[in-house]
Amino acid sequence: MDGNVVLIGFMGAGKSSVGRVLARRLGACLIETDDMITAAEGRSIPEIFAAEGEAYFRAAEDEAVRLLGLKRGEVIATGGGLPCREGRIEALRRLGTVVWLSSDFDTLYERARRSGDRPMLAGRTREDVLALYRSREPFYARADVTVDAGRLGPDQIAVRIARALAARERQAAPSR
Ligand code: S3P
Repeated sequence: MDGNVVLIGFMGAGKSSVGRVLARRLGACLIETDDMITAAEGRSIPEIFAAEGEAYFRAAEDEAVRLLGLKRGEVIATGGGLPCREGRIEALRRLGTVVWLSSDFDTLYERARRSGDRPMLAGRTREDVLALYRSREPFYARADVTVDAGRLGPDQIAVRIARALAARERQAAPSR
């Protein structure tokens, strides 16, 4: 695998858990943009949002994407909002194959609420989060590959992604 595999999707899509399984399957490392940012900042994402605000966090995401330009053959899990700004999908596609873990909104919302401390959910009603999801969907939809991650476990999703990647590589290979 020459390029990287870049997982995108809304909060609760399972990017980290699928990324872990997929990386193992492909013999690659999993790199998470949120981890890059917390390591560089020396503080958690909720702390960054509280102290500096969202714009600062988004600028840190830009720097993470820039640094990822040095990576080859890895699995990259992005934060849910990362692809959803002008130019970001293009930047991610330069890193490798972009895979959207899609799901129905209710599943995403329930999962996102149950796990983790997510500043983008704080103080927002279900309707607010649905509006956020709808505004982000067009960005996610520009991925190279879409996998329905709603009803499947991480192992099954990783298998589907690996198959889709293999099919793309076959298509890209010159025919003999
Ligand atoms: C965010 C999603 C989070 C994290 C940050 C902002 C978002 O990542 O990057 O809290 O804007 O949707 P997950 O998608 O892993 O929850």
